[in-house]
Amino acid sequence: MFDANGGSILTVSDVSVHFGGLLALDRVTFNVARGSRHGILGPNGAGKTTLFNVITGFVSTQAGIVRLNRNDISALSPHRRARLGLVRTFQITTLFKDLTVLENALLGALVRLGHHRNALRAARDDSQAIALAYEQLEQLHLDHLADMPVQQVSYGEQRQLEIAVSLALDPQVLLLDEPTAGLSHAETHAVIDLIRNLPQSLTVVIIEHDLEVVFQLADHLTVLHYGRRIADGLTQEVREDPVVREVYLGTD
Ligand SMILES: Nc1ncnc2c1ncn2[C@@H]1O[C@H](COP(=O)(O)OP(=O)(O)OP(=O)(O)O)[C@@H](O)[C@H]1O
Ligand SMILES: [Mg+2]
Repeated sequence: MFDANGGSILTVSDVSVHFGGLLALDRVTFNVARGSRHGILGPNGAGKTTLFNVITGFVSTQAGIVRLNRNDISALSPHRRARLGLVRTFQITTLFKDLTVLENALLGALVRLGHHRNALRAARDDSQAIALAYEQLEQLHLDHLADMPVQQVSYGEQRQLEIAVSLALDPQVLLLDEPTAGLSHAETHAVIDLIRNLPQSLTVVIIEHDLEVVFQLADHLTVLHYGRRIADGLTQEVREDPVVREVYLGTD
């Protein structure tokens, strides 16, 4: 499952973030192995999204270092980090609701082909960009929705499309912030299948509230509580960890 070279693709070392008097992340350290499915768990307000914001550059580190492929990226803009292959989805969908599913995928394809997003108008006639966008939708079994305006497809399909658009950016590391939040049981399963079928070479870091989902998807877990890392290890080990069971899993 892991790259033959082993090692970490992403490392977070001693990262702290304050919002005024609130310590949202308190010297958090963890490594993400190349090719792994790495889950981030923790109760509401534990600091999970802040951690993604720090990794992707939307919040700057006040202390600590973020490295991608051993390079310190802590000072780079979100845009530069995305170009290096660090791509995220947001907790709330960020699609262009008035555009069709294909046009949203096309925007991702354009970025991949090095065009500016303003080029959408031209891209509607660009067969290479359209083919790439279509291919992306096909791979995720969303091609039947291509011509639908995004606002007319279900919320579950929007979440899947969001992953498709992110994939069009050709990430090395894909960061998913609660990809199944607000979804029905059936929609959740569709998203789990989609994530399961992502290429093994892609590293996926996934914030997820639903323990059933995270236990199915993740081979490795990092657990946060009040901004602190309280557990980190193989999913099976973390599941059994008495501290995690007490603060997060309850009594089961
Ligand atoms: N921009 C901000 N300004 C001030 N406080 C913030 C900001 N962003 C997050 N916080 C606070 O930092 C803490 C961690 O928030 P964060 O969103 O990272 O938690 P989370 O683990 O993602 O929670 P959830 O499960 O609810 O999504 C919370 O107490 C939150 O209110
Ligand atoms: Mg969050």
